[in-house]
Amino acid sequence: MRPLLDLLKERKLIRWVVAYLPVASLSAFLILACSEPPSWRDAVAAGWPYSLDAAAVEATGGIVVSTDRYASSVGADVLKAGGNAIDAAVATAFALAVVNPEAGNVGGGGFMVIRLADGTTAALDFRERAPGAASRDMYLDETGELTDASRVGHRAVGVPGSVAGLWEAHGRFGALPWSSLLAPAIKLAEGFEVRERQAKSLLHYAEDLAQYPHTAEIFLPGGEPPAVGDTLVQADLARTLRRIQQQGRDGFYTGETARLVAEEMERHGGLITEQDLASYEAAWREPVEFSYRNHKIIGMAPTSSGGLTLAAMLKILEGYELSEMAWHSPAMIHLLAEAWKRAYADRNEYLGDPDFVDNTRVQLVSSEYGAERRASISLERATPSTEVAPGLGPYEAEQNTTHLSVVDPAGNAVSMTTTINSFYGIKAVVGGAGFILNNEMEDFSAKPGTANMFGLVQGEANAIAPGKRMLSAMTPTIVTRPDGSLFFVVGSPGGATIITNVSQNIMNMVDYRMNVVESVHAPRLHHQHLPDRIDYERGALDSATIAALEAMGHTLRERHSEQSLYPFIGDIQAIMVLPDGTRVGVSDPRRGGAAVGYHRQ
Ligand code: GLY
Repeated sequence: MRPLLDLLKERKLIRWVVAYLPVASLSAFLILACSEPPSWRDAVAAGWPYSLDAAAVEATGGIVVSTDRYASSVGADVLKAGGNAIDAAVATAFALAVVNPEAGNVGGGGFMVIRLADGTTAALDFRERAPGAASRDMYLDETGELTDASRVGHRAVGVPGSVAGLWEAHGRFGALPWSSLLAPAIKLAEGFEVRERQAKSLLHYAEDLAQYPHTAEIFLPGGEPPAVGDTLVQADLARTLRRIQQQGRDGFYTGETARLVAEEMERHGGLITEQDLASYEAAWREPVEFSYRNHKIIGMAPTSSGGLTLAAMLKILEGYELSEMAWHSPAMIHLLAEAWKRAYADRNEYLGDPDFVDNTRVQLVSSEYGAERRASISLERATPSTEVAPGLGPYEAEQNTTHLSVVDPAGNAVSMTTTINSFYGIKAVVGGAGFILNNEMEDFSAKPGTANMFGLVQGEANAIAPGKRMLSAMTPTIVTRPDGSLFFVVGSPGGATIITNVSQNIMNMVDYRMNVVESVHAPRLHHQHLPDRIDYERGALDSATIAALEAMGHTLRERHSEQSLYPFIGDIQAIMVLPDGTRVGVSDPRRGGAAVGYHRQ
């Protein structure tokens, strides 16, 4: 007290205040203006099951992250042996077809996005195609109602594309011999020790798998799913993989394997013929590339809707300073939901196989179109989805998919997602060939305007036609920094939720500066236009946030079912490259894959 009294007496305080007040006010303003927004961590509930501080796998050499540890190890070994990212992706994908039979496949299809260390990009579409005998209304009954045949039984199977895709990618970019990339998968098919992830999955789906004798023989040996520590042998699959090893794509699309597929179809009323298989081709597409806050996003072009829908979402959201808004605050979630529903409205109406429809890609990736869509968003009120029409005028589900991300020592990167649609596809293996068949025909608009198993209501652009590819939501994505360096490689299973999931990880890392562990482990949300509802993972939002969003007109639903094996949203497999080149890999804890990397010698 004494010094203050002295100051007052000498009238020094007044002089001090007059001299320093402007400086003090400016400093206070600057401190407030530059201070961090409230930490996004405050929005993560104490009981949230996934640690934001979990250890990641770091590597100065190569790294592979996939939905299964066996498969990631196969890929990392390929990199160590001098293979590049494309070689590793091919070997990992074949291994996933063995150890991740619920989703990994040779009987399905997928998409691969590539960015080479020199900046060259490429995108490969190896999505399944409708058989030649398919027709627009093939899944409607005599009264015009939708049946379940688009997802149950052999008429639900699309002509598989995975082997053609892996063959094509390797032919253009691979370095190691093709046969060496099949060898680890063949060894695994001859017998691997079942781990917890496989045991849990096979137990959960045992009843479904029991309905087809060929499937049961393999996956329920002795009538029971294998337990942890048992050896699972897939001898027919090993033989199929050996044919592919020796003959390349012809080992699948012609000869013995094609004959076995055609016979399986004839036995069960399916449509795929040897001719459908022989004529299947993977297709190189121009990658979807756009900027988001000066980062470059490299995404998948149709037949996946992933890249364009991601662009449509992020171009709307780029107009808001998200980083100044508290993460997962009602105001922020409101904007995400409004952007997502508009992007999905466009996706569902316009997108389809580019060999059949014009995908209007230029509009969806443009900042102008983003601004136009943004103009209809109210900051206070949710727009009902019924009032969110597609913006360009009229146009004349369980989620079972698998993702892998690779960065090799040279900095080449691959992001690849493949699927057989439902868990274990149609649940039937091809007799004598040992691989599970997809039920990808479900991804078409079997009845335009009616919801499919993911609740997606899609339009004419995605109607069934012979030889056409069905629209996908798979979103393999690669992001570079404003200086052009590789930032991260990301993708996920999750059906319709894949695109919003990837968009959240981009926002987490770009807007909220999360590291890759924080981003992947953080709670997730989803909105897909119809149904008009924000889904949130159990524990993701507190009651005050839910109430505030409801007051704005949103409907919310906790996405959790005790019956579901994987009740959370998605299964991100991501690699972040730090500015010093260290690769940091994270496999989403929601399902239980693995990152496997190694250090440079
Ligand atoms: N089968 C899910 C998708 O391709 O989006």
